[in-house]
Amino acid sequence: MANTGSSISAPLKRAAGAVQAAPRDGFATGLGVLTATLGSAVGLGNIWKFPFLTGANGGAAFLIVYLISTLLVGLPVMISELTMGRTARADAITTLQKLSPSRKPWWLIGAIGALSAFMILAFYTEVAGWVFAYIFKSLSAAALSTNPEVTSQAFSGLVTDPVQSLVWQWIVLGLVGFIIILGVSKGIENTTKRLMPVLFLLLVAVCVRSLTLPGAAKGLEFLLKPDFSKVTGLTMLTAMGLAFFKLSIGMGTMITYGSYFREDQNIPITATRVMLADLSVSLLAGMAIFPAVFAFGFEPSAGPSLLFITIPAVFASMPLGHFFMVIFFILAAIAATGAMLSLFEVPVAYMSERLGMSRRTATLLTMALLVLFGSAAALSNSVLADFKVLGMTMFDLYDFTTSNIFLPVGGIFICLFVGWVWGMDQVKKSLSNNGILKNEGIARLFLFLVRFVSPVLILLVLLQGLNIL
Ligand code: PHE
Repeated sequence: MANTGSSISAPLKRAAGAVQAAPRDGFATGLGVLTATLGSAVGLGNIWKFPFLTGANGGAAFLIVYLISTLLVGLPVMISELTMGRTARADAITTLQKLSPSRKPWWLIGAIGALSAFMILAFYTEVAGWVFAYIFKSLSAAALSTNPEVTSQAFSGLVTDPVQSLVWQWIVLGLVGFIIILGVSKGIENTTKRLMPVLFLLLVAVCVRSLTLPGAAKGLEFLLKPDFSKVTGLTMLTAMGLAFFKLSIGMGTMITYGSYFREDQNIPITATRVMLADLSVSLLAGMAIFPAVFAFGFEPSAGPSLLFITIPAVFASMPLGHFFMVIFFILAAIAATGAMLSLFEVPVAYMSERLGMSRRTATLLTMALLVLFGSAAALSNSVLADFKVLGMTMFDLYDFTTSNIFLPVGGIFICLFVGWVWGMDQVKKSLSNNGILKNEGIARLFLFLVRFVSPVLILLVLLQGLNIL
């Protein structure tokens, strides 16, 4: 009897073109929307990219440039993706198929996005593997020495060992895959709801430690003192490129997450909150790292050498350093996990919704493919160190192709699609939650930016990334 209702409505639904049988999984609470989306934005980028770039490019002057970049480029693309996803309620590829009026191949943006997610995961899971390995290394004090030459050797001992490199990557894949299989609300939302506050607390703890060291002021000066003489055209492009990677945009992550947003979510405000919270995490990370780096007379650097060589030497120099190093790598692991969940969700959503696979099968298949393609990145410092394509190891190739080409290309086409193809009325309807929110002015400003400003600026970033500018 209980089935009667659905058996009557099912043919009707099918006739109307809605084939969704079970209700689609999604974020259940407004808080969950926020923590999951912030979890995607916050990642290793906040720790090894943002603070160093800020320090090296004029401190507070760079922060102003970064803020302008996010307003002109970052937020418009993020809002575009979230609204598209929420309107179509589908994975990134299907979203573009559903929203484009003709048979034009706009879905290719989604396809390049899924490929980018996959390629970023191939190297990101490896770096995350090193971070996880360092939690244990710092527990056993194996990587702790005040001498950067010793910490450098400890790090190369890890990355040049093919077995350790592979196993740590698999551990990370297993962990992320496990959370993904649990589902959008039970897996991604629940995990990020619990972990984001922990990340924040741990970060504040390390900040307090670092800022109370004698000589900390020099590090704060490196990070924050405004030096406008360092701001050039190139700095602006760097800031825009950073905004892309930081806000996880240009590759369908935010389309996919947007498709899980609640109907009543105010998208422009949520996106702005995520941007500001992400910026705060980056600043806190800078305040956790550079005061300590300067207090002990080390040179600031970026990337893996900052994370795995300088930072352990810095921690070894300070009282209670051992304890704080464990905390630091736990928080870095949390940050990386939230970002990886959002990357995983892009191919998993597509495979489970379009190719008719169960969520478990789709996740296991993604993991298997990543074991295969990710191993090329994992072995880039050992067995495959001499295997180069276009002069780059596979690790660098995955990084370069996605950051410098795919994300900006995706960003440009997302702007063009929303600004010129999707239609003004659709955009206004979606941004105002069907007229409930009175934000017509914001919608107009947004449309102006995605039509005329953002795509041109992103094109400049693309040309610069390809060394054409
Ligand atoms: N935003 C993440 C970081 O800062 C990286 C990321 C890029 C995640 C693209 C998802 C998509 O580390």
